[in-house]
Amino acid sequence: MTKNLSFKESFIQDKLRTHSCNQLRKSDIGKQVVLMGWVHHRRDHGGVIFIDLRDRDGLTQVVFNPAVNKQCHEKAEDFRNEYVIYIEGVVQPRPADALNTNLPTGEIEVMVHTVKLLNSCRPLPFQLDQTTPVSEELRLTYRYLDLRTPYMANIMKTRSKVTFAVREYLDKQGFLEIETPILTKSTPEGARDYLVPSRINPGNFYALPQSPQIMKQLLMVAGIDKYFQICRCFRDEDLRADRQPEFTQIDMEMSFSTQEEVFRITEGVISSMFKSGLNIDIKLPFTRMTYKEAMDIYGSDKPDLRFGLKLFQATDIMNNSNFKIFNGTIANGGVIKGLCYPNGAKFSRKELDDLTSFAGIHGAKGLAWFKISEDKFQSPIAKFFSDDQLNKLKNMGRANTGDIIFLICDKETVVNQALAALRNQLALIGNLIPENQFNLLWITEFPLFKYNENEKRLESEHHPFTAPFTEDIDKLDTDPLNIRSSSYDLVMNGCEIASGSLRIHNFELQQKIFELLNLDKKTIQQQFGFFIEALKYGAPPHAGIAPGLDRIIMLMLGLPNIRDVIAFPKTQKASCLMSKSPSPVSEAQLKELEIRIPKKKPKDA
Ligand code: AMO
Repeated sequence: MTKNLSFKESFIQDKLRTHSCNQLRKSDIGKQVVLMGWVHHRRDHGGVIFIDLRDRDGLTQVVFNPAVNKQCHEKAEDFRNEYVIYIEGVVQPRPADALNTNLPTGEIEVMVHTVKLLNSCRPLPFQLDQTTPVSEELRLTYRYLDLRTPYMANIMKTRSKVTFAVREYLDKQGFLEIETPILTKSTPEGARDYLVPSRINPGNFYALPQSPQIMKQLLMVAGIDKYFQICRCFRDEDLRADRQPEFTQIDMEMSFSTQEEVFRITEGVISSMFKSGLNIDIKLPFTRMTYKEAMDIYGSDKPDLRFGLKLFQATDIMNNSNFKIFNGTIANGGVIKGLCYPNGAKFSRKELDDLTSFAGIHGAKGLAWFKISEDKFQSPIAKFFSDDQLNKLKNMGRANTGDIIFLICDKETVVNQALAALRNQLALIGNLIPENQFNLLWITEFPLFKYNENEKRLESEHHPFTAPFTEDIDKLDTDPLNIRSSSYDLVMNGCEIASGSLRIHNFELQQKIFELLNLDKKTIQQQFGFFIEALKYGAPPHAGIAPGLDRIIMLMLGLPNIRDVIAFPKTQKASCLMSKSPSPVSEAQLKELEIRIPKKKPKDA
């Protein structure tokens, strides 16, 4: 046992703290106080020891003066960073030359007359004062230490405040908070399921919910009227900076509701989050744009409107030139779209090559560019186009001397995807994104279906419970790809933060949609039979939405990755470095579940 650490002494018995480490002020001078916390920093100044005592809320300087109490001072000589201590003492003013205006408690200190060592601490794998960079791997391995840093502690506090504000707001709006099962049946949100084998029913599996979609709709059938849940969702999908395999949604569903009402409630939720987390009054109502407008103008259904760089159509202008590649692609149904980047004529050849490779990563086979100068268009392919075409291009792109126009010619989906990525990249390069700005945008009128080229079948753009536009319902058999859906996404700063829709509450229409998705009768019955059955028993019209809690907090705090807003997140490889999960299980456990794992074949010699 560490020197000075007496197991008996280390229990605090019936003592409680009188204050947190961020509470004492000048007005407390003269008070007897009890503080407990971690040794953040220890300084020995010619016989007097000063310790910055830290807890979740902040720091207080505590002083061990041998002239006041020799025993306490002796004990403090052994204290090291992150030791856990108990002190009793008297609040006194700091001498004028020792005031710390950076600390809320910087005008006082506590002169210690009683001290206990509550626990010691091994040498740390990394320092918690955040002055030296620490790899994320190490932070995640010792997450409990990482969470002690003010950076992480502040994020956790904001998350807690924001979550509480959401609950309070929805409670006031008449929503009931109801939990739905974690061990459940697959819901089609488009990712792979995490499966849990059943011991009692060997060979059968639960699926962890990708979202509580079906359950919340069943709660509407059950007459719950307004439901919400701050719920965990599980999706086995490729991870990115804004995706975790296990994440939290603010899941909502409302009966007898309309899109306007869902927007009003969601805008209320989001503004309560901003108010409680950042004390910002977010501008209401949010901007709206249809899916078609968003794709035409920005090439993306989650455009970042904090900057311009709008796309424009150039198919008609640039067709029928001497540039065969464009003509051929257009003849095969392709399009040309472009974007003008102000002052881009100064890009070097190397920079343009890099941008071309970047567009390539996002699907484009090439990236054409035209630098605009007073009297000419500088481009390797300018010679293939007439002056009239080039002048029209300049007008279309609203380009000025010194600008550059980029063009991509391909299938429309490829053009949009690559130009949207290029637009974001150029905004970063040109520093065009204003800081501390939150741009919230509703995208409406998504298509109901998209076509899966690989599987040669229709897929839901959102999920199969989304209601089609009533005006488009006649196209179900004739022109399904041109049916709009009553669904909506909420986008913040170019990131999708919520998604929802009006739902189908008619069982025949629901069945029909499953059939159009090419599910056979048996699969429909097996997977969704219980749900279709429920719709037959007086299901009310209903609608809902699910904002992603982690993603919103990440964006609110301007953080680059979602892991920082989650107490115990997974890595890009979906593992927990701290608990080393996922991990193998015992033979006995596997046997109980009747699961056999094939032995790995020895590698070929
Ligand atoms: P959707 O699948 O679009 O809709 O998810 C809603 C919101 O959840 C967040 N989100 C994620 N956050 C972190 N990591 C992930 N892997 C992840 N996946 C999604 C996003 C997203 O906008 N049941 C429907 C909602 C509904 O129709 O009511 C659903 O889950 O912020």
